[in-house]
Amino acid sequence: MELKIYRDKQEVAEQFSAYFVEKANTGKPFHVALSGGSTPKIVFDVLAANFSDKMDWSKVHFYWGDERCVPPTDDESNYKMTVEHLFSKIDVPEANIHRIRGEEEPNTEAICYANLLEINLNEVEGTPQFDLVILGMGDDGHTASIFPHQINLWNAEDHCVVATHPESGQQRVSINGKVINAAKEVAFLVTGASKAKKVKAVVEKTEGSKEYPATLVDPKSGNLVWFLDEDAAADLD
Ligand code: 6PG
Repeated sequence: MELKIYRDKQEVAEQFSAYFVEKANTGKPFHVALSGGSTPKIVFDVLAANFSDKMDWSKVHFYWGDERCVPPTDDESNYKMTVEHLFSKIDVPEANIHRIRGEEEPNTEAICYANLLEINLNEVEGTPQFDLVILGMGDDGHTASIFPHQINLWNAEDHCVVATHPESGQQRVSINGKVINAAKEVAFLVTGASKAKKVKAVVEKTEGSKEYPATLVDPKSGNLVWFLDEDAAADLD
């Protein structure tokens, strides 16, 4: 596990974008699972503004580690956020965007389609392997859309599960722990003082941290990097 700590959200976004380009710009297809949330939003803006001419986007295939069960036009949609902050600003082939869909596309009301991973990735012992999985972490220690109250979903048989947000009850689709830990690289993007306690618990694996899904992120490849701002890293020893 590697910790990279930067001044603020903006610097996290700039440094992560440089890391992403270094990993993705190999001339070979690169399959990345994106995260929702506020930190990735800034990352996408920086990636599009500072790096779009340095990237051969035709080689990058975009997926989501989790998605809210809403139509792609809904403000809650992670897909919509990514279109607004990234896809609308770069030249990426439509075929490279693998949105999590329901069965009755398009524009269906809340669509949840567990078990859907339209991905032709190479597999590790039957588990799809992303080149990179980008994760956030909630104040409660959730990651992707695996929440503490449904931590059993982490070990679900299905690669893709349907979860429920503990407060809003919103249904979400999420990749499970096996898919996350099969990835060649996993990068956490965590910023803000509200995360500091959980970052300490998860990174230092303190007492009780096992209840937090973020603690279970432990890629077989050993390649786990945390991109943190100083506020989120404030409680680390
Ligand atoms: C989502 C994300 C979720 C997010 C965390 C952290 O769909 O909302 O996948 O897991 O990463 O809630 O969000 P912030 O980056 O906004 O703190």
